[in-house]
Amino acid sequence: MEERKTVCMTSDKLLTSRRMEPSDLDEILEIERVSFPAPWTRDMFLEEMSNRTARLIVFTEDKRIVGYMCFWQVLDEAHLMNVAVRSDCRGRGYGTYMIDRLQTLCLKEGLKRIILDVGRRNLPARRLYKKCGFRSIGFRKKYYSSIGDDAIVMEKWLGRSEPEERGEELNDNEAGEQR
Ligand SMILES: CC(C)(COP(=O)(O)OP(=O)(O)OC[C@H]1O[C@@H](n2cnc3c(N)ncnc32)[C@H](O)[C@@H]1OP(=O)(O)O)[C@@H](O)C(=O)NCCC(=O)NCCS
Repeated sequence: MEERKTVCMTSDKLLTSRRMEPSDLDEILEIERVSFPAPWTRDMFLEEMSNRTARLIVFTEDKRIVGYMCFWQVLDEAHLMNVAVRSDCRGRGYGTYMIDRLQTLCLKEGLKRIILDVGRRNLPARRLYKKCGFRSIGFRKKYYSSIGDDAIVMEKWLGRSEPEERGEELNDNEAGEQR
């Protein structure tokens, strides 16, 4: 993946996106540990780096990693497996910028849909995805067993690929933010 420098419109900051390298992992693991109750380990990241289905991207500002994501390309879909923004950089539009970049990359690769799981209680992430046009299509009970949370499954069809007949969106009760 070529290195790209673009301005994050909401913060006016110049962010660079590039492929994640093993030498990034000390910084990534610091972010990962404060971001998730069951953080990925170094070995898990290394395994993903050697998985041909996986793409791992870091976002830097002045060489410092401010966020990263991992997605799997499965046939014509992208499955978002991991995304996080450095805790002192949140709320500046970087998450939105990263999801926008994901969509641009997927469209360029001809992918039709992005799908992801998000914790029912993870309101910042759920709002981020909703803001970016994702819809809730299902849930997996107690999927995040270590914290006893359900996963909400969200999807976004890209470009003009949305089928005429698509599944029902979860109603407010099913997708409720508290259960
Ligand atoms: C989820 C996450 C990536 C969002 O990153 P971010 O850079 O803060 O996101 P943005 O600044 O682009 O905010 C986008 C939207 O998310 C929502 N949001 C962000 N932080 C929020 C918070 N603390 N509370 C409620 N909503 C929030 C808002 O709707 C916001 O849009 P707005 O600013 O127009 O209101 C970040 O909080 C994070 O890394 N969390 C820990 C890891 C994680 O949960 N990853 C998702 C796994 S599914």
